[in-house]
Amino acid sequence: MKILKPSEIAKAAALLQQGGLVAFPTETVYGLGASALDGNAVAKIYQAKGRPSFNPLIAHLANLEAVERIAHMPRKARDLAQAFWPGPLTLVLPKRGTDVSNLVTAGLDTIAVRVPDHPIALSLLAQVDVPLAAPSANLSGRVSPTEAAHVVTDLSNQIDAVLDGGATRIGLESTIVDCSKETPRLLRPGGLTLESIEDVIGALSFLKDSSMAPRSPGQLLSHYAPSALVRLEAKAPIRAEVMIGFGAIDGDLNLSPSGNLVEAAANLFGYLRQADEIALSNSTERIAIASIPNAGLGRAINDRLNRAAAPR
Ligand code: TXA
Ligand code: MG
Repeated sequence: MKILKPSEIAKAAALLQQGGLVAFPTETVYGLGASALDGNAVAKIYQAKGRPSFNPLIAHLANLEAVERIAHMPRKARDLAQAFWPGPLTLVLPKRGTDVSNLVTAGLDTIAVRVPDHPIALSLLAQVDVPLAAPSANLSGRVSPTEAAHVVTDLSNQIDAVLDGGATRIGLESTIVDCSKETPRLLRPGGLTLESIEDVIGALSFLKDSSMAPRSPGQLLSHYAPSALVRLEAKAPIRAEVMIGFGAIDGDLNLSPSGNLVEAAANLFGYLRQADEIALSNSTERIAIASIPNAGLGRAINDRLNRAAAPR
């Protein structure tokens, strides 16, 4: 596997055009990209991640015009796209045409699309000139990568290259809104807050327990899991637990000493990986995490933490 510099985007584009797999940075997390038009390339994504094949992928595009070639855009979807793209928002829309491989949508008649807000991703998309199917570039069920080094740890033997763009700015996956039905529905909380979405299109419907959402099969309850067992809402570590603090509740690591949710989101997945390494090396195999307020980005952080702590 090659580690490519930002000056080597053309090499990454060429690998993708030849049906290769290339991980690239977005503003949320690193994605594992393949041409969405090339069924064989998309199949290699599922294989590399060890991901169950019923789990559909997000198609990444350079701009709204490119999205409209592969998806129909109801009015509220267009309003959201105009307000938040490029940005950490994925829209599930009725699929249009037959160019995109059925493996991307796992046979559904809807397609998940987004325009990422990252100069390397946008330049790569412009150069390959095809939609890129890209799930987070981690092994299935593991914490999403926020640095190129995380991609190397999980996938170095399985992929052709990673474009190294440094640490990702947001650190949490995109928010997913299903706009394929009359009332838009939140399928996954993420880097764009529910509050800012509702400011633009009004109230969303959402399922209380997203683990039950049949329309977003990636939302398996035990997901984003480190290897060590995770205990939430900890005030202090018990015995040799590795403690991840927040605000005034300190620990071995602190997601944000000042209690800033943006900073906490950016640190979350990297700290889960670090805490996991410490827990496994000192054989406590346990991580304790301070409580996080459940508003704004805190909703998405708690969604990921609840999955990390779910019974497995
Ligand atoms: O921030 C992100 O969204 C990152 C970066 C790389 O863009 N990508 C990402 O992809 O998180 P992934 O594959 O890990 O998550 C995609 C989610 C899954 O939960 C999947 O089930 C859902 O999107 N999804 C994809 N297509 C769908 C569809 N047609 N209907 C409902 N859910 C869909
Ligand atoms: Mg993922």
